[in-house]
Amino acid sequence: MNPDRPPEPVQGVVRFYNFVPEGNAFLEDVLAGLARAQKSIPPKYFYDERGSKLFEAICELPEYYPTRTEMAIMRAHIAEMAEFVGPDAELIEFGSGAGVKTRILIEALRPPLYVPVDIDGAMLRTASENLAQLFPWLNITGMCADYSRGLALPQFVGVPIRKKAVFFPGSTIGNFTPEEALEFLQRTRGLLGTGGVMLVGVDLKKDKSALDAAYDDAQGVTAQFNLNLLSRINRELGGDFQLQRFAHRAFYDEGSGRIEMHLESLCAQLVRIAGRRFKFAPGETIHTEISCKYTVAEFGAMARDAGFVTEKVWTDERQMFSVHALIAA
Ligand code: AVI
Repeated sequence: MNPDRPPEPVQGVVRFYNFVPEGNAFLEDVLAGLARAQKSIPPKYFYDERGSKLFEAICELPEYYPTRTEMAIMRAHIAEMAEFVGPDAELIEFGSGAGVKTRILIEALRPPLYVPVDIDGAMLRTASENLAQLFPWLNITGMCADYSRGLALPQFVGVPIRKKAVFFPGSTIGNFTPEEALEFLQRTRGLLGTGGVMLVGVDLKKDKSALDAAYDDAQGVTAQFNLNLLSRINRELGGDFQLQRFAHRAFYDEGSGRIEMHLESLCAQLVRIAGRRFKFAPGETIHTEISCKYTVAEFGAMARDAGFVTEKVWTDERQMFSVHALIAA
């Protein structure tokens, strides 16, 4: 290197790949889901532009403790978390969303490559561009994809990578059934390869009243988030749902350890979507989401069954939320 010349500034590169298949999976999934005896729509369709904004608003609600509790756990233990992941990691984040927690991790870890994966392409671009401004040295490869179905990551050349690290915060793993969560962990184990690591946020089982309030807040933001699914169907699929004829229902079922979220029909009615008609009886529901809660031991057992060794679990003082450090064995 010429000692008279200042060093070249290190500049990160931002790239995007779109792995969302062509065709209208939304229409197919809605038509198939509403034809079932228990009508249902997959929760991934919550996240259009308005849905993503409403979810951000949920994260600020006084009743919705998971986001702020997980952030506090991360802030308190970030040095230990970064040490656990180690240097030169390819940091992959599933369901990256607005990327607020990511900033804390990237700042401490300074990985050479960050791979956010999210189904909401617009959110992915905005969040990646914001991160590129904050961390100009960081290589970012955004992947617009449905990570719940398995994913092949492109090979990245020119960036020194020692291991893969998956960051999956927010207890989004709770939106899978336990069987799906186990399969997801097994696939992630395969993607990481032996020695790869995972940091995963998991909401803990607790008092029913705290959980009911977190998913049925006093300001009705979660209700708007749930009902936005029907607005989205009207907007994008030409549906004719009348929103005032449906109500948000959310409750914690202690037996199964999960929140169930539904949209309940308030009267007998007929709804048309893309030339198909769907009949609703009064009180009949569309099941829109589950949010499973675990004990630390229950989640640890699932991680072990998927081929991980738990290195460490951090929780808050009140045992509301947990962050698990897993190593692919
Ligand atoms: C994204 N996911 C972890 C949230 C949860 O808590 O299950 C989604 C949500 N649904 C209603 N409120 C928040």
